[in-house]
Formats: sequence, C-alpha cells, structure tokens
Amino acid sequence: MTILVTGGLGYIGSHTCVELLEKGENLIVLDNLSNSKLDTIEKIEKITNKTFKFYKVDLLNKEEVKRVFDENEIDAVIHFAGLKAVGESVQKPLLYYNNNITGTLNLVEIMQEHQVNKLVFSSSATVYGNPDRVPIKEDMPLSTTNPYGSTKLMLEQVLQDICLANSQFKVVILRYFNPIGAHKSGIIGENPNGIPNNLMPYICKVASGKLNFLNIYGNDYETEDGTGVRDYIHVVDLAKGHLSALERMEKNDSGAFIYNLGTGKGYSVMDIVKTFENENNIKINYKMVERRPGDIAKSFADPSKALMELNWKAEKTLKDMVRDAWKYEINNS
Ligand code: NAD
Ligand code: UFG
Repeated sequence: MTILVTGGLGYIGSHTCVELLEKGENLIVLDNLSNSKLDTIEKIEKITNKTFKFYKVDLLNKEEVKRVFDENEIDAVIHFAGLKAVGESVQKPLLYYNNNITGTLNLVEIMQEHQVNKLVFSSSATVYGNPDRVPIKEDMPLSTTNPYGSTKLMLEQVLQDICLANSQFKVVILRYFNPIGAHKSGIIGENPNGIPNNLMPYICKVASGKLNFLNIYGNDYETEDGTGVRDYIHVVDLAKGHLSALERMEKNDSGAFIYNLGTGKGYSVMDIVKTFENENNIKINYKMVERRPGDIAKSFADPSKALMELNWKAEKTLKDMVRDAWKYEINNS
C-alpha cells in the first residue's frame, strides 16, 4: 500500500512512519515543518534502513497538496498534521481553527477528487471534556473547553458527515490519551520548542538539569494521592494502533469508526515522578503548586472497543515509557 502521512515528521507521526516502513509499506510524508525538523527524515531512515518520499507542503496550500496527490497513487491517508498546544489555542483561536480545520477540509476535498477514500484521523481524549466517570467509553458525552479541543470535535463531526454523504469514504477516528516515551533506539522522540507544557518532557528537562524543578499542578484532587490521573500510553503502542486502523479499513464496511487508544490504566503525577526516579536513578525536584486552570482530576480510557474491533492493545509498561523518554533526552541534549 502507498500511504500518505501528514504531519509525519512530528512526534507521533515519526514513530508511526517507523512502524509503517518496518511493515514494508510505501510511504509519502507531507509536513510544513512548523513543529518538526527536517533531520527527522534521516533519523527515521537510520532506524528502518528504508527510504521514503518527503514533501515540505502546508495543508493550507491547496495547489501544493493537489500536486502530492497528482504525483502519487495514494491508497490511504493518516492525518496527524495540526497544531496541538491547548494554551496557545486559547490565545490564538483563529490560528488553530484555520490550521486544523481549513487544513483538514482541504485534505479531504482533494482526497475525494482523487478517489482516495481511506483516512485515519488523530483525535484526542480532550473531546470528552470533564468526564462524569472513568474509564471513558467512546459513547460518553462530548464537550470541549478550548479551541484546540473544539477543532478536534468539529472535525470528528465533519468526517462523519462526509461518510454519510459518500458511501465509499471510510474514516477511523482515533482518540489518543496521553502519549509519552520514545522509540527504543533513542533516535526519535518528543522534542517540544521552548519550555514544555506536558508532564513527561518537563520531567526530562528537570532530570537533565535544564529546568530546576517540576511544578506539580495540584495535590487536592479526588485521587489516591491528590495529584491528577491520566492514561499514559507509549508512543510506539500508539503508532501501532494506526496500522491496526488501516487493516480495519480493508474490511468491506464503510463509514466512520471511533476508537479510544489508551492503556486503560490511570497513573497520578506522583506515580510518574516516582517511576521515573526509580527506573532512571535520578532525583526529580518538585514543588506542589496551585491547580492548572482547565485541568481535570482523572482521565483514563476503556480501550476494549479497540481490542475487540482493531485487535489492538497497548503492550508497553510505565517503566518502558519513562526509560525510553529519558534515553531520548540523553541522546538529544
Ligand atoms: P506534532 O506537533 O509533533 O506533529 C504535528 C506535525 O504536523 C508537525 O510536524 C507539524 O510541523 C505538522 N503540521 C502542523 N500543521 C501543518 C500544516 N498546516 N500543514 C502541514 N503540516 C503541518 O504533534 P503530535 O504530538 O505528533 O500530534 C499529532 C496529532 O495527534 C495532532 O493532530 C495532535 O492534535 C494529535 N494529538 C496529540 C496528542 C499528544 O499529546 N501529543 C494527544 C491527542 C491528539
Ligand atoms: N502536570 C504537572 N506539571 C507540569 C505538567 C503537567 O503537574 O508541568 C500534570 C497536569 O496537571 C496533569 C498531568 O500532569 O495532571 C498531565 O498533564 P499534560 O499536560 O502532560 O497532559 P494533559 O492531560 O493536560 O493534556 C494532554 C494533551 C492535550 C490533550 C489532553 C486530553 O497534552 O493536548 O491530554 O487528551 F488535549
């Protein structure tokens, strides 16, 4: 199969490219490099010993996107490209609506013009808002609290509507929980610009001495130790979920299918800090501070639908996640 991966040089995209190449798929990667670096191409090729075609193209530029489809016989698209920082989306809503929504509309319009009818879309557990209960199932109520989340929820609706209108079109919507960790080689991983917003990259910067201490946002939540609980999933397990989604689309039925990708286990901020310290033998300095606005107490998946229908489940442990995250940090600092 020839698969177009949008945003394929980003964090989750690069790990998915590795898995696809190792499976023997033919890859075309499109990325505008707004949140990734060109040298990721060499890194992916180094891990896999395989090559692929790369287009530096912005999804907002329809002519360039068309060129990618004109020049290649594409069987399916995995669509990662998008902006993802919750706080920035509150400050710059138009940037987020334009990039994520217009970019995706351009992509699906051009896909339909070229009779490319298979799409895997990156959604997020953020579409569950502040859930009434955990574990979270796919049919629970949806809501969002920030423009980033709203782009995901709106796009889920758009894609489902396209499937209703076009019986050839198949979409798998994957709602990711909290991806962390890195490829076991330590060659690719998560490398955000500036001071990280997310827990694991922040811990890595404290461990390597680039930041002095971790702020733990709240120890008065209704959780076992008072700190927030999330479903952390190894990025390689998450990447493999996309291969399962592509296989799912080989079945005859058309339409939109939605799956949670998580482990089903919730770990607190303190669990993460302690596991990181124990596995990597490094002390993490931290301070308990006020809750971060917009954060929720607990979020973890019921991943049983993905197991039943995609035959996918997360295999890696929290120890694997903290070890691999640290290996990548050491290699890249
Ligand atoms: P990332 O920023 O590392 O990767 C996204 C890639 O898309 C980047 O390489 C960026 O340069 C590219 N891109 C952005 N806008 C583009 C455009 N208009 N045209 C072409 N390329 C563009 O992010 P990630 O963590 O790999 O996330 C991938 C997807 O998964 C995103 O859609 C994100 O919203 C979603 N997601 C991520 C998380 C997470 O915690 N990382 C959780 C849930 C969902
Ligand atoms: N946390 C800290 N200190 C930090 C960073 C985070 O204590 O410096 C805590 C948070 O309060 C939360 C947990 O660590 O309890 C995880 O926080 P992250 O920022 O790593 O992840 P979130 O669950 O807040 O957000 C992630 C993605 C969002 C997505 C959301 C829901 O980053 O894009 O999951 O799926 F919207």
